[in-house]
Order: sequence, then C-alpha cells, then structure tokens
Amino acid sequence: MAGRHQDGAATRHAGQQRAGPLGLPGIEAGEGLVEQQQARIRQENVGQGDAAALAQRELADKHLLQAVEAAEDLELIAVWQDLVTHTEHHFGQEDRWMEATKYASGNCHSVQHKVVLQVMREGIVRAEQGDLQPIRIMTGELAQWFPQHAQMMDASLALHLRRVGFDPATGVVHAPDALPAELIQGCGSTHSCVDHPEKEPAAAA
Ligand SMILES: [Fe+2]
Repeated sequence: MAGRHQDGAATRHAGQQRAGPLGLPGIEAGEGLVEQQQARIRQENVGQGDAAALAQRELADKHLLQAVEAAEDLELIAVWQDLVTHTEHHFGQEDRWMEATKYASGNCHSVQHKVVLQVMREGIVRAEQGDLQPIRIMTGELAQWFPQHAQMMDASLALHLRRVGFDPATGVVHAPDALPAELIQGCGSTHSCVDHPEKEPAAAA
C-alpha cells in the first residue's frame, strides 16, 4: 500500500484529544465527557431522526476517511478533495443552522469548523508541492476528531435545534420563545468551549 504512513504522533486515544501537530483544534473531551454528553442527549430525548442523521454523517466521514487511507499516492489529492468537499458541505450546513438560531458568528463550534477546513485545504497545497505526509498524518487525526466532534458539538447543536423547533427544510424556527436572549458563543455542551461569554473570553482554536 503505497503512501501509508506510520506516524505515531497522529494516534491518540479518545478523551485525550489535543491540538495535533497539524493544528487540528482539540476538543478537550476529558474522561467521561463523551459519556456525559450521550446521557444528556438521551435525557433530552433527541429524536430518532436526529440520531439517525448524526449516525449517517459519521458513517459518511468514516467511509471517505477510509478511502483516503487506502488511496495510492497518485490518487491521494483527488480522494482528499472529495473529503474536503463533503466536509465543506456539512460544516456549511451546520453553520447556517447556527446562524439562523441565535449563535454568534464567532461561536466555538463554527470556529472549529473553520480551523479544520483551513488545515484540510492546506493539506492540498502541501500535496501539490509534493509533500503527502500532512494528509497522511491528518487522516489518522481526523479519524479521532470527527467522531468526537459529532458526539459533542453536533449532538449539542441537534439538541438546540430541537428545543427551538428549527425546521432545516424551511429555515423556520417554530418555537422562537425558546431562543436565548443573548447570542450563543459556546457549543452548548460540557467540554471546554465557553457557553457564557461573560465568564470567559470567546474561544479561539
Ligand atoms: Fe459540527
């Protein structure tokens, strides 16, 4: 399998994720936080449709990452570009939903999207210059990062959208009274991103 790398720095356990050597933002999902978030989601009764959508997205991320992992050097840029395009679409969709439901433009979740996409696009630039190593390393890092992001931030967003009665098909907020008075800066979950800007400065990855 040409082009496979064995960079141990790219491997880390869930719950210990920090900013990687390529600059992927850490989620700081400490011991038990993913489980706490999952319990919160169960408690707040995220609908089966939300859970299915999240699972479907995780599966798509996984398949595209597997394709990158299996790609020979000559096809790596094209396969990586497919992953970047897919990620642009799904991050962009979430960013629009957040914008429509009282999230600040510089909120923690959207900042993570922006930073990750920037790092992924830099991978293409480096690969076009002949250096495939950043993409090979990032593939391992993203295999950890995507699921944690989905379980923490995307799941929190799904809860928020459900609470405010947001209809993604029409963009209508059916329960506007449930929207917060202040713009949301954090990610609405239990990890280190700020939920209360008056207590901590806005997060920047
Ligand atoms: Fe997200």
